[in-house]
Amino acid sequence: MTDTTDNVVVLDSSIEDALNFDGLRLLAVASSQEARISIETYLKGYEGVEYELLNQREFEQHGVTVNAEIPDVLVLEVKDATDAEVHIEAIRAEPELEFLHICLLMKSPTKNAIVNLLRAGADDILSLTPNEIELSSSLARSTVNRAVVGDDRNAASRRRTIVFIHASGGAGATTLAVNSALQLQKEAKRFGGNACLIDLDIQFGDADLQLDLPMRSNLFELVKSPDRLDSRMLENLMIKGPDGLHVLTSPDEPLPFDALEKSTVEKVISLARRHHRYVVIDMPITLTSWTDSVLKAADCIFLVTQMNVLALRSARRLIDTLQEENLGGKSIMAIANRYPSKGQGRKISIAEAEKMLRVSINTTVPSNFGLLINSLDQGVPAILQQPTSKYSRTIDELLESASAKPATQKKRSFGGGLFKRGDADV
Ligand SMILES: Nc1ncnc2c1ncn2[C@@H]1O[C@H](COP(=O)(O)OP(=O)(O)OP(=O)(O)O)[C@@H](O)[C@H]1O
Ligand SMILES: [Mg+2]
Repeated sequence: MTDTTDNVVVLDSSIEDALNFDGLRLLAVASSQEARISIETYLKGYEGVEYELLNQREFEQHGVTVNAEIPDVLVLEVKDATDAEVHIEAIRAEPELEFLHICLLMKSPTKNAIVNLLRAGADDILSLTPNEIELSSSLARSTVNRAVVGDDRNAASRRRTIVFIHASGGAGATTLAVNSALQLQKEAKRFGGNACLIDLDIQFGDADLQLDLPMRSNLFELVKSPDRLDSRMLENLMIKGPDGLHVLTSPDEPLPFDALEKSTVEKVISLARRHHRYVVIDMPITLTSWTDSVLKAADCIFLVTQMNVLALRSARRLIDTLQEENLGGKSIMAIANRYPSKGQGRKISIAEAEKMLRVSINTTVPSNFGLLINSLDQGVPAILQQPTSKYSRTIDELLESASAKPATQKKRSFGGGLFKRGDADV
C-alpha cells in the first residue's frame, strides 16, 4: 500500500486522492525522540500540508500558530491524562481556537482517559508512535470539520449564534427562528457547512411541528446523563430537517426548566458552535437559570414583539431585566412582528413603539396570516413555501442585520424597489 524511501512515507496514489490534505496547516508538538521521528516521517510524505514541528519548550514560547496563523490541526504529545487535560482546557478556553482539531499523542491511555479527554474537547487520541493509517484518519477527520466550517479561512468570522427571545405569548419568535435557521442552512451549504436549530422551549416548544419532523429529540437522555454529552451524543440527539438542517427539538414530555443544568446548556451551545456555521436558538418565554448563559453565548439577540401596548410593555420589562444582567455589552435587537400594512390600520407607529421600548426597532416583519397558517397546516415553513414573499424577504433583512448573511443590493426607489416585486403579500 505504501513505500518508504529515505524515511519518507510515499502514499499510494489512491489513498492520496481519498485524503486530500491540500492546504492543511498543522502544528506538531513532540519532545520524545520516538514521537518526533514517527510523525515527521509521515508529515514529510503528505504533499500540500504546511507543518511545523516543535518541542514542548518551543511550543510554550511560540503558541498555537504556524507562520503566524492558526493551524487547522494540532498534534500534541502529552505526558499523561492530567497533562492532556490542562492543555485541552487552556486551548478550548480560547475562542479563536474553538475549531482547532486536536490530536493527542499519549502513551497507553486508559479507556476512561480517552472518554474523558474526548469529552473535554480533544478530537483524537493516538499512541505515541501512531501508524500511518491512524494519523491520516485523524487528519481526514479534521478536513471533514474544515468542510463543516467551510473552505475560506475567514469562515470563523462569519459563524453566528443567533438567539430569539420573546416576552409575550405568540409573538412569532419560533416561526422566525425556524425560517431563519432554514435560510441559514441554505447559506451555510454554499460554503459546505451546516446550520442547526436548538429549541430550548423544553416545555411547549413546537419547532418540530413547524418543520414537520418525524420525531423529537430524546432530551431525557441529556437530563439523565449530562456528563455523557459530547459531539457524538449531541449529533445523535439532533433530528434531520428539511435541506439537512439539524434540529434539537423539545422533548415528547414537557420538562421542568431546571431539569437542564446551566453547564449542560452551555456545553450544548459550545458543541453546536464547533460543528455548525450557524446556530439558531429559540428560547422559552420563561426566564430560566440558564437564560443568561444562552444570551452571553449569542452573537446576536433578537427580541420579537407584537405591536400592541401589552406586548410592548412586557418586552420593555424583559429588556430591563436583561440589561440588569451583565450580557457582556451585547445589545438586544427588537423585531416588530405582525406589523400591519397601511391598509390594515396601524394602531401604534414605529416611533411610538420605540419610545415605549426605549430601544430602536431593528426590523419590522409583515403580518401574513394566510401564508403562516398554511405553512403550519402543511408543515412547510414560509421560506420554503413562498421564498419571494415579503415575509421571507424580511428574514433575509433580519439575517443581514445579524451579519449572518452578506447584504444584498437593495433598490428602495419608489419605482421598482425590493418591496415592489414579489407575490401575494399583504
Ligand atoms: N408575521 C406573522 N403574521 C401572521 N401570523 C404570524 C406571524 N408570525 C407568527 N404568526 C403566527 O402566530 C402564532 C404564534 O407564533 P409562534 O409560535 O412563532 O410564536 P412564539 O412567540 O414562539 O410563541 P410561544 O409563546 O408559544 O413560544 C402562529 O400561529 C404563527 O403562525
Ligand atoms: Mg415559541
